[in-house]
Amino acid sequence: MYMDLGEFPSVENLFSLNGRVAMITGAGGGIGRVLGRGLASAGAAVALCDVDDFSLTDVQRELSSRGYRAMGLKLDLSDQTSVFESVRKVHENFGRLDILINCAAINKREPILEVTQTTFDQIVSVNLRGLFQMSQAAARLMKESGGGKIVNIGSLNSEMALKNVSVYGATKGAVKQLTMAMALEWANDDIQVNCVIPGFISTPLSRPVWEDETKSEWMRGRIAARRPGEPQELLGAVIYLCAPASSYVTGQSIIVDGGVLAGGTSW
Ligand SMILES: NC(=O)c1ccc[n+]([C@@H]2O[C@H](COP(=O)([O-])OP(=O)(O)OC[C@H]3O[C@@H](n4cnc5c(N)ncnc54)[C@H](O)[C@@H]3O)[C@@H](O)[C@H]2O)c1
Repeated sequence: MYMDLGEFPSVENLFSLNGRVAMITGAGGGIGRVLGRGLASAGAAVALCDVDDFSLTDVQRELSSRGYRAMGLKLDLSDQTSVFESVRKVHENFGRLDILINCAAINKREPILEVTQTTFDQIVSVNLRGLFQMSQAAARLMKESGGGKIVNIGSLNSEMALKNVSVYGATKGAVKQLTMAMALEWANDDIQVNCVIPGFISTPLSRPVWEDETKSEWMRGRIAARRPGEPQELLGAVIYLCAPASSYVTGQSIIVDGGVLAGGTSW
C-alpha cells in the first residue's frame, strides 16, 4: 500500500495505521491477541477472528472497553464458507479491508508414522488451505480498493525441521512459499505480502514444550538470547509490514527469533 508521505515523512506517518481496517485470524490466541491490541493502538479498526468464542469475546470486549473500534467474528478456517463469509462481514461492517494478518494455526506433535489422515487434513485445512482462501478473499477486496497488506505468520519450521512436527512444519514451509507467490501475483495491485517468522515464543500453543524440562532446556540452548520470546516482541515487525513504511517490501520473511537461526548460543 503506497502512501505519499511528503518530502519530510514523520515517523508517526510511516508507522500509522489510522483509517485502516485490519482482519486478524487466531485473534483469541497468545500471539493474535497481542497483534490485535497492537494494530488497534496503531490506529486500525480491527476485526478479530477466531474459532474459539470464549477467547474471542474476551479480546473483543477488552479492546472495545479501551475505546478501540473492534468487532469479534467467529471463523472456522477449515470451512471455506466460514472463511468467505467472515471477509464479507468485515467488508459489510467496516466498508473496506486494508490489512490481513494470517495468524491462526494448529499443531499436533507426533511421529510421522502415527499421523492419521484426519490429523493431516485438519492441520492442512487450517494452516494452509484456510490461509490460502482467506488471502484470496481479502485480496479480491484489496484489489478493488487499490491495495493492501497481507502478513502471514510463519514459524521456525518454515526454515528448519523439528522431530514430531512434520505436518505443521510442512504447512509452515508452504506459508513462506505462498508469501512469495502471492507477493508476485499481487504486486501490480499494490498488495504487499510478507511473512513474520517467530522463534520460540511463550504462548498456549507452545506451552506443552516449555513445560517439558528436556525440550525447554533444548530450546534455551539454541536461543542466543537464552529466553523465550514474548508475543509483544513480534509487534514491531508486524506493524512495520502493515504500515506505509514497508510500501516497497514484498515477498519477504522477517525472522524474530532471539538469534536461533543466526547460530543459537554457539560455544
Ligand atoms: N508460540 C510459538 O512459539 C510460535 C512459534 C512460531 C510460530 N508461531 C505461530 O504463531 C501463530 C499464533 O500462534 P500462538 O502461539 O498464538 O497459538 P495459539 O494456539 O495461542 O493461538 C492460535 C489461535 O488460532 C485459533 N484457531 C485454531 N483453529 C482455528 C480455526 N479452524 N479457525 C480459526 N481460528 C482457529 C485458536 O482458537 C487460537 O486462538 C501461529 O501461526 C503459530 O504457528 C507460534
